[in-house]
Amino acid sequence: MTHVKNICCIGAGYVGGPTCAVIAYKCPDIKVTIVDVNAIRIAAWNSGRLPIYEPGLDEIVFARRNKNLFFSTEVEKAVNEADLIFVSVNTPTKKTGVGAGYAADLAYVESATRGIADVAKSSKIVVEKSTVPCRTAESMRTILEANSSDDIRFDILSNPEFLAEGTAINDLLYPDRVLIGALQTPEGLNAQKALVEVYAHWVPTERIITTNLWSSELSKLAANALLAQRISSVNALSAICEATGADIDEVAYACGRDARIGPKFLKASVGFGGSCFQKDILNLVYLSEQLNLPEVAAYWKQVVDLNEYQKKRFVSRIIKTLFNTITNKRIALLGFAFKKDTGDTRESAAITLCKNFIQENAKVRIYDPKVSSEQIYMDLSEPGIVDNTEEVKKHITITSSAYEAADNTDAIVIATEWDEFKTLDYEKIYDRMNKPAFIFDGRLILDASKLQNIGFRVHTIGRAAI
Ligand code: NAD
Ligand code: UDX
Repeated sequence: MTHVKNICCIGAGYVGGPTCAVIAYKCPDIKVTIVDVNAIRIAAWNSGRLPIYEPGLDEIVFARRNKNLFFSTEVEKAVNEADLIFVSVNTPTKKTGVGAGYAADLAYVESATRGIADVAKSSKIVVEKSTVPCRTAESMRTILEANSSDDIRFDILSNPEFLAEGTAINDLLYPDRVLIGALQTPEGLNAQKALVEVYAHWVPTERIITTNLWSSELSKLAANALLAQRISSVNALSAICEATGADIDEVAYACGRDARIGPKFLKASVGFGGSCFQKDILNLVYLSEQLNLPEVAAYWKQVVDLNEYQKKRFVSRIIKTLFNTITNKRIALLGFAFKKDTGDTRESAAITLCKNFIQENAKVRIYDPKVSSEQIYMDLSEPGIVDNTEEVKKHITITSSAYEAADNTDAIVIATEWDEFKTLDYEKIYDRMNKPAFIFDGRLILDASKLQNIGFRVHTIGRAAI
């Protein structure tokens, strides 16, 4: 059996970086090199300020960097030295061409695979770490096999990543499960064993699931679809709560106490964001359509549609409550990241909220503890959002505290559930706001009756106004 001694990871992003840093941390006998074509990102990984914010990541990276953990732009060298290669590149939704808006763009996976085929001088285990449509491993295998020879063979594994941002290090150190799919051939099973041995350095073997390649690929899309479906289900119920006087937190708690339902992922919100849920469900929708299963496609598509509806509903509630117009009104937007404990803004609900506020000519004052001003301007200037940085700058002010954001505003909107928003001095904030002062809690993190006693008019997702 192969014993892995040298790992290369292609793609130093939110997944490749933390995942392989933890492998290096837990396997001091294995050399791990993370490579990327983005030289700025690699320079940041080699600096004192890592390119992504993730609790616990600095400690892990600083403990192993330049010992058995390396970050480099020398893709060819690292590929050649490795016996196992993770492909952890981005697989965004296609923007143009066949399947635009639904299918995953596999150009980066293909280019990484061709890169391996072009330079490899010895046999390799190639591992799909990126989230990909079912049967992508077949295309990778075809490309690699076309380039293999009598003395070089490539074995493909699927090892999807289940970490969530904000808790990535904990998720990697104590995973619910690790999933490794392989072709059911002697060589495939041998490669699978080699990767099991890597994870077994710290993951109990009963948590390492081995399956065939296609089950592993599909399980990743399925897991994200099922998680997102719970959020859309609870968000659909939140609309009923607002209209009836039921309280979504109470309903979610009562339902979640049923062991068959369970309490997790039932927090109503302004809508899920992040780089994975929407992308992966649309990918599943596309796959279903390709397989001529339109009912299945429509079923999963509804999870994304409901999410869009939830964001729209929240914006409508804000405008209606602010006397049907927000033109020239000042709104404090607290939080821009797609969830707490990350600086990532991909598909953040805050972007949709801002887009709508700007279209209504409101003045938006944004505060987020971990998202940079440049990132906010970049996100809002994207085509299809506001499209024009000058227009964005006319409407947006970025502040360095929640207090500054709230100054002379008509309303506060909570878009991200950062812990610091729970403990702000709301009396001080109230004094600095225009009256009547409104709070719209899109994350159900605030004590509404306490705020009401201060004088705020409080609107919470999933609750009737108080
Ligand atoms: P990312 O965009 O942060 O990182 C991908 C990196 O790959 C980029 O830095 C890019 O420069 C690099 N890259 C692309 N092509 C390359 C090539 N040919 N050679 C070298 N480098 C190359 O993406 P991410 O968030 O880390 O996601 C990676 C994959 O993992 C995606 O398929 C995603 O769906 C999946 N995933 C992401 C998460 C998450 O929380 N972000 C969780 C689970 C799975
Ligand atoms: C998700 C999956 O959880 C993870 O397993 C996968 O590997 C990548 O995609 P991530 O997107 O990083 O992880 O974060 P997650 O915690 O799942 O949150 C996604 C979005 O759903 C966030 O906007 C979050 O605020 C929202 N959410 C989550 C809710 O609105 N309610 C919930 O109960 C849980």
